[in-house]
Amino acid sequence: MAFERVGVVGLGTMGAGIAEVFARAGLRVIGVEADAEALARGRGHLERSTGKAVDKGRLAPEQRDEILGRITLTTSREDLRDVDLVVEAIPEILDYKISLFKDLDRICEPGTVLATNTSSLSVTAIAAATGRPGRVVGMHFFNPAPVMKLVEVVGTVVTEPGVVADVTALAGRLGKTAVAVGDRAGFVVNRLLLPYLNHAAALMELGVAGRDDIDAAMRLGVGLPMGPFGLLDLIGLDTAYEVMGVLFDETRDRRHAPSPLLRELVTAGLLGRKSGRGFYGESGAYDGGAPHREQARSRLGTFKVVGYEDEGDGLAERLRAAGFKPSEDPDVVLCLADRPVIEHAVRLPDPARMVGVHLVGEQVAELASTALTSERAATAARDLMKIVGLTPVPCKDRAGFVVDALLFPFLNDAVRMYDAGYASIEDIDAAMRLGCGYPAGPFEMLESFGLARVRDGLRALYTEYREPAFAPASLLDQLVTADVSEFPRR
Ligand SMILES: NC(=O)c1ccc[n+]([C@@H]2O[C@H](COP(=O)([O-])OP(=O)(O)OC[C@H]3O[C@@H](n4cnc5c(N)ncnc54)[C@H](O)[C@@H]3O)[C@@H](O)[C@H]2O)c1
Repeated sequence: MAFERVGVVGLGTMGAGIAEVFARAGLRVIGVEADAEALARGRGHLERSTGKAVDKGRLAPEQRDEILGRITLTTSREDLRDVDLVVEAIPEILDYKISLFKDLDRICEPGTVLATNTSSLSVTAIAAATGRPGRVVGMHFFNPAPVMKLVEVVGTVVTEPGVVADVTALAGRLGKTAVAVGDRAGFVVNRLLLPYLNHAAALMELGVAGRDDIDAAMRLGVGLPMGPFGLLDLIGLDTAYEVMGVLFDETRDRRHAPSPLLRELVTAGLLGRKSGRGFYGESGAYDGGAPHREQARSRLGTFKVVGYEDEGDGLAERLRAAGFKPSEDPDVVLCLADRPVIEHAVRLPDPARMVGVHLVGEQVAELASTALTSERAATAARDLMKIVGLTPVPCKDRAGFVVDALLFPFLNDAVRMYDAGYASIEDIDAAMRLGCGYPAGPFEMLESFGLARVRDGLRALYTEYREPAFAPASLLDQLVTADVSEFPRR
């Protein structure tokens, strides 16, 4: 089916962007808003967005006029009677959507495809409210719609064969990459992303590390465009809280229970960027009560590096090159490890001097303080890392420290999602790269870290936290046992 005339209902953050995307691809668009005032706001969104593109030289003024010329704005749903497709982008409230779809079902031709941009509601429940459940799909765009290249196309158990394919082809015509998935809470991106963000909040509540350190570790260590708290502020803590609630209702997985910290901040009105205040904010922010960093340099003394020889030699060499002396009776013992170091510390004459060091990527050194580490040794370790050009991430001496503790369960979830037949490896990787701007998809990350390292890291996390979902996915375990280093692609 070729789509030439489309309707977009709701011209807020998402709908205005979606209308623009259609018009840019040459389709005629009817944009519907609730009332004249909202319509004027919708027009404002469209004019500002296309105006910015002109200012940046990405669009000629004539092209902008053509795009806007293809969009007709109205407050009457009845104007949608001749369109081939309607995409709904009104607020995320099931009753509103059901009432709208019932109306669209009455107004539009029987062949018209009705799509919802919902992030978390059941597409099946929306479809079932119409007399054409076979022609109802999810068409989940990402914010900002004109920029983000991903569309999740959601088919339900009753979607007619062909409709998902048609909508997927349309997404391609819009210049987007479509990932076709079934109707499960969160689809691919939110199902993998939100539990990771929730977990970051939980680690902060456990005091494993502070806000800035967790964010720095994930940005600089893993290369993610934003740390979890920066991203939560961008998404909106209220939205994140609600989506987590929907995930939990479907899975009953306690990791999906929204973090109590999110609830507290949402109730306090700290919603993130939209309220000017969340984990960050000019008018006050929440940093998990992390102790204020000592600004003064420690009186750096001697050091000793123990642990993995290769990396240890590298770090010891960098410290020597920076003018520090190794010693057999050092002020600080830097123990290179990817596991808690307390068992090594207790073997030292003075365990207070030991700090665990886990190098992540080229830039980050996680610095694990055990229950016995002295403040002096911890501060000295921080300063030494800064001097050799690494970003220190102080944390508690817990399995996975910060990065592995957050990343490995996310990778494990991706393996389980694939193994359950929900989406292909290619689609999951593409979804996370294009939907979140990740430098690599979860399977690409798994293969570059090494499957065995991730499996073993998950086992350690499981042993420490006794969280069933941290146990390595069977598929991962089996591939490691079979000594296979890559996932089977289609
Ligand atoms: N904001 C995001 O990052 C994002 C990303 C992907 C999907 N979504 C989903 O997109 C949908 C819209 O979200 P949003 O962030 O654009 O919300 P929004 O509040 O910015 O916009 C909703 C718009 O719908 C209009 N509206 C309300 N009732 C209407 C009606 N009966 N008829 C016509 N218009 C009506 C409102 O006036 C408003 O302009 C939600 O389902 C949301 O889950 C949002």
